[in-house]
Amino acid sequence: MITLDMGHLWLVLLLVRTQNVLVLHRILRFMLFVFLLMHSLLQVSYTSWFLDAFNYAIATNMDVLNLSIGGPDYLDLPFVEKVWEITANNIIMVSAIGNDGPLYGTLNNPADQSDVIGVGGIDYSDHIASFSSRGMSTWEIPHGYGRVKPDVVAYGREIMGSKISTGCKSLSGTSVASPVVAGVVCLLVSIIPENKRKEILNPASMKQALVEGAAKLAGPNMYEQGAGRVDLLESFEILKSYRPRASIFPNILDYTDCPYSWPFCHQPLYAGAMPVIFNATILNGMGVIGYVQSPPTWHPSDEEGNLLSIHFTYSEVIWPWTGYLALHMQIKEEGAHFSGVIEGNVTIRIYSPPAQGEKAARSSTCVLQLKLNVVPTPPRSKRVLWDQFHSIKYPPGYIPRDSLDVRNDILDWHGDHLHTNFHIMFNMLRDTGYYVETLGSPLTCFDASQYGTLLLVDLEDEYFQEEIEKLRSDVINTGLGLAVFAEWYNVDTMVKMRFFDDNTRSWWTPVTGGANIPALNDLLEPFGIAFGDKILNGDFSIDGEQSRYASGTDLMRFPRGGFVHSFPFLDSSESGATQNVLLNSGVNKADSPILGLLEVGKGRIAVYGDSNCLDSSHMVTNCYWLLRKILDFTGSNIKDTVLFSESVKQDMPVYEDDSHLPTRRTDVNFSVYSAVMGKDLVCRSDSRFEVWGTKGYNLHVRGRNKRLPGYHVIDLGRGLNSTFDTTGSRRPKFTEKNKGDSLGNRYLGLLYRDELDVPELVASHWLVPAVVAVTGFLLFLSIWRIRQKRRRRRRSGSGRLANP
Ligand SMILES: *[C@@H]1O[C@H](CO)[C@@H](O)[C@H](O)[C@H]1NC(C)=O
Ligand SMILES: *[C@@H]1O[C@H](CO)[C@@H](O)[C@H](O)[C@H]1NC(C)=O
Ligand SMILES: *[C@@H]1O[C@H](CO)[C@@H](O)[C@H](O)[C@H]1NC(C)=O
Ligand SMILES: *[C@@H]1O[C@H](CO)[C@@H](O)[C@H](O)[C@H]1NC(C)=O
Ligand SMILES: *[C@@H]1O[C@H](CO)[C@@H](O)[C@H](O)[C@H]1NC(C)=O
Repeated sequence: MITLDMGHLWLVLLLVRTQNVLVLHRILRFMLFVFLLMHSLLQVSYTSWFLDAFNYAIATNMDVLNLSIGGPDYLDLPFVEKVWEITANNIIMVSAIGNDGPLYGTLNNPADQSDVIGVGGIDYSDHIASFSSRGMSTWEIPHGYGRVKPDVVAYGREIMGSKISTGCKSLSGTSVASPVVAGVVCLLVSIIPENKRKEILNPASMKQALVEGAAKLAGPNMYEQGAGRVDLLESFEILKSYRPRASIFPNILDYTDCPYSWPFCHQPLYAGAMPVIFNATILNGMGVIGYVQSPPTWHPSDEEGNLLSIHFTYSEVIWPWTGYLALHMQIKEEGAHFSGVIEGNVTIRIYSPPAQGEKAARSSTCVLQLKLNVVPTPPRSKRVLWDQFHSIKYPPGYIPRDSLDVRNDILDWHGDHLHTNFHIMFNMLRDTGYYVETLGSPLTCFDASQYGTLLLVDLEDEYFQEEIEKLRSDVINTGLGLAVFAEWYNVDTMVKMRFFDDNTRSWWTPVTGGANIPALNDLLEPFGIAFGDKILNGDFSIDGEQSRYASGTDLMRFPRGGFVHSFPFLDSSESGATQNVLLNSGVNKADSPILGLLEVGKGRIAVYGDSNCLDSSHMVTNCYWLLRKILDFTGSNIKDTVLFSESVKQDMPVYEDDSHLPTRRTDVNFSVYSAVMGKDLVCRSDSRFEVWGTKGYNLHVRGRNKRLPGYHVIDLGRGLNSTFDTTGSRRPKFTEKNKGDSLGNRYLGLLYRDELDVPELVASHWLVPAVVAVTGFLLFLSIWRIRQKRRRRRRSGSGRLANP
């Protein structure tokens, strides 16, 4: 039926073709739009199909595989393990990094795997295509830090390719860039003599050739371009004389090379800071399995380099072909006043078992060059601590997006990290002179006397009782500033947001709201502050700054003496909507308190009900101006005259009793997603105390003692055996981008991107007919207008002709 519709549309298009180029263009746009919609509706693929195809590739001994698909769910183990098996079987897999740029934290799986060559897109003038997904990888958050991806970039915008019928058409997307690299890889394979291929060629050596040969582009950073633009000739030179070896990617971390080394180069190191983690990838061209022979070591190039302390974590087993080497860098206390550059190398020795016919193990030493900027420890007021620990994302949880106006991208999957979707805020804070550190451990794991402000933005997790007690003391006794940016939370709306995912054949339901308000309320209770469960939308302005409140919550409790700002907004939550109806529409929008500022003990607190204005994903307006004023207050006790005007000072507390406060969902097992519920309170190596080991808090530590995280151990038994195993039931994985019913399993189909910026829409059952109807109407309108014009022309035509 759909095809028929399309046929008719084309017919109409041909009819009007000769009439009016402008109208034609407009119609074309609509056609495209409709086409895309249909296309995405029809496109479904299942994990098991991919497993079958991959098994086929293994059974038929393929050399190179191009995979122009992907999606955010890197926790789909049957799929991920099959990809490991593919590469373990010496098949070089090239895959598109995704079309979710220019946002950060948008890498698609499997291109984000270290054993896969992940390809981003550039245009013909060597600019990163805006659609190309950006790093870092988000598997490692919150305790760790993501890896650099894509690996390389290739042309991916307006590439001519063949049409299915005949002729050519221009295509854009990382789906196009990926086969460009797959082609390069095939050419490179073909130049190695067949008898040497087995010895030299593997996913790691090919990636080494590609990244070492790539041409670094001047503008983009490493999370945009990886090693740079793929370069066939350079990579050919490298492969020509290749001897099996291991290497590190990236093999340089140079703080003086900005913007390439962003975000590292954007904030120097200093003593007393949280460890800065750089998570590099080990590429081992010597064998599918490898081991670290001796622990990595730091070789400073001069005396000052001894001020740097590096704690290493790395793969115990390097398989398949790849592993990781993470640097946890800190400046020692002796360096608190040091300012300058620290240089040196990290070396690590890797070995692999002897290859067939060889006696001795293969081994090689890898070098990672470091050039780091160091400054004296900044004053407390300028130091901001960002809580990463209490953020939960998709996967695994259906964590809904923060702005409910955004309907085509309902999952919160960009990592909520300073260097992913909060990267513009991070840059802004740096440019304003703040130093921002990341806390990946509970709130008991930092020394509050070092920080001006603890920044809690859009958090979904629960809090340990110890954290609640410590924070209270930190603020009141230690003078810590606390800035909270919350989000909507409304159980009725969450229940409404559940949908049946016909790929996983299960109901998906949000495990919490945009933020976990009941948990935040527990945390803020000692200060007499609580948020409500309204979902407020509207424009407002403070001090001439126009802002949009996009699905934020309201304040329900705030103590006397605080400063509270209220605005008349509409409540669009499920419960609010029914109330609006009950109250008979037309009533005045009630004033809702959304911003509160308070001095308490030695500390200061600012709470705001919306975080969309700090989050680069789907931001409507930014509120960096507000954040700056809040940090002035929480960090330095500078009071903005407008925010602290007498007219908003509370003579009476804002107070709603308990029965009005939002409650937790009872039908969701939250401990599946939480790092708190049912878990031990542990400070990990991403907090200061663990690494230095001496300054722990004497709080109750439940259960196990604090320990360094164990190394990642991979179960080798599973991946290596290749059988035609289709037991993966029909656990589906890839669903089309826009399909309404399966938004949750937001697995993209082919990563093509059309030239026109066609708005992404949610296609629910009513939408397709609606779009068809609207298109029809517009078509009718334009034809009618053409006819009108013609008629007019005919009427005046003779006159004009008569004119000489
Ligand atoms: C790249 O991979 C996709 C499948 O993921 C395929 O549809 C496409 O045709 C491939 N492109 C080339 C040039 O092989
Ligand atoms: C580095 O990345 C690897 C691979 O994703 C991960 O297993 C490891 O935990 C990460 N390490 C750190 C410290 O982030
Ligand atoms: C670090 O490694 C690079 C590249 O291997 C080498 O040129 C340099 O001399 C080394 N520097 C030190 C201090 O070892
Ligand atoms: C909730 O999930 C946890 C962790 O997966 C599990 O141990 C527990 O039994 C579950 N509780 C219920 C009530 O299903
Ligand atoms: C796969 O596993 C089976 C049973 O464990 C074993 O007999 C077989 O040899 C294995 N095949 C390969 C290729 O390792």
